[in-house]
Amino acid sequence: MCSCLASADPEVYRAVQGEVDRQRFTLEMIASENFCSPAVLAALGTPLTNKYAEGYPGRRYYGGCESVDIAEYLAIERAKKLFGADHANVQPHSGSQANLAAYLALVEPGTKIMGMKLPHGGHLTHGSPVNFSGQLFQVVSYELNPETERLELDDFTASVKENRPDLVILGASAYPRAIDFARFTDVAHEAGAKVVADIAHTAGLVATGLHPTPIGSCDIVTSTTHKTLRGPRGGLILCGEEYKKEVDKKVFPFAQGGPLMHVIAAKAVAFGEALQPQFKVYQQRVIDNAQILAQRLTDRELRLVTGGTDTHLMLLNLVPNGLTGKDAQQALERAGITTNKNTVPNDPQSPMVTSGIRIGTPALSTRGMGANEMELIGDWIADVIESKLDEEVIRATRVKVRDLCDAFPQYADWSIA
Ligand SMILES: Cc1ncc(COP(=O)(O)O)c(C=O)c1O
Repeated sequence: MCSCLASADPEVYRAVQGEVDRQRFTLEMIASENFCSPAVLAALGTPLTNKYAEGYPGRRYYGGCESVDIAEYLAIERAKKLFGADHANVQPHSGSQANLAAYLALVEPGTKIMGMKLPHGGHLTHGSPVNFSGQLFQVVSYELNPETERLELDDFTASVKENRPDLVILGASAYPRAIDFARFTDVAHEAGAKVVADIAHTAGLVATGLHPTPIGSCDIVTSTTHKTLRGPRGGLILCGEEYKKEVDKKVFPFAQGGPLMHVIAAKAVAFGEALQPQFKVYQQRVIDNAQILAQRLTDRELRLVTGGTDTHLMLLNLVPNGLTGKDAQQALERAGITTNKNTVPNDPQSPMVTSGIRIGTPALSTRGMGANEMELIGDWIADVIESKLDEEVIRATRVKVRDLCDAFPQYADWSIA
């Protein structure tokens, strides 16, 4: 059997190589993306992908699970230690599946769930009509304050009291400010609601104490493992003793079949990395870089939602510039800067067009970039926007982006086996 992808399947090989080159030679600023380590990549590309291991370590439905049990135990113990949780389920294939399992561990289908309004920063799984969350539950939403563009406790309290949800979901996909989970959870609990905190975006910041933790206040915490946490693509659920049985049952057999053991091994590697002191240094750099970039964009008279950021991401509101998020995303991509279009509060455009772009620093911080690079990149983004997406400016920026990428090699030693 040929073990070399290039000769075994040249078409797939070319697609893989194309994506690796894109990651190497452009600036990855999608807030939900990162570069996992070579050790995480190595664990992903192992024969553990072959193993069926339905069930949980020590109680599987298949034989031959001794070694994958070790990998899953390691992932569980490291996740518990990293977040200070009593229980971890590391099997969810994705953040969405983690949310499905978590909601149904707490409430029945048909009950009322309440998440952040989607155009204000919530995620599809927080109640979108096209997602399971909007189809299995009655959905109500809480909103950002129209003046501050922030999630304010008073507004939230009024909304919870008025809507009386059975389950509140805290956390977001496109909200640049810290959320004090404990205070919001107290309000929800007082109104009789259960609480899921979805820390998919901020997990790395939470794990290192650079963002308030929901552990100890919220009933169940869900996350992805591939954003600020810098692991393989996947999901994670954390909870206390009270809900552990129900969470495990709702992941398997309710929502999923066999776990992806190669991904679970890679999660174990990533959690091990996140337990090292350097990971906190990295997360601090993610925040510092976001603040420097936000300041530069603001100095260049661009408008950021809430005026800045406490986290790894910011939202650029392009309404004052007369541009759409869609056009700006495409122009920046031509300049070698990858972002994504995003709705801004009270967006006049449709979700496919939008008036904003979301910009994040996790990937570039992994790449080793710091204050100087953030200032340069802030200027380049501002140049493209200010020029009203002029192709000359875009071309000149692309050249500078390529030089910067060459100065910060990414996956330089990595090659396809
Ligand atoms: C807040 C939040 N929750 C859940 C998810 C879903 O994660 P996945 O794409 O792994 O299903 C995302 C993904 O962007 C997210 O931002």
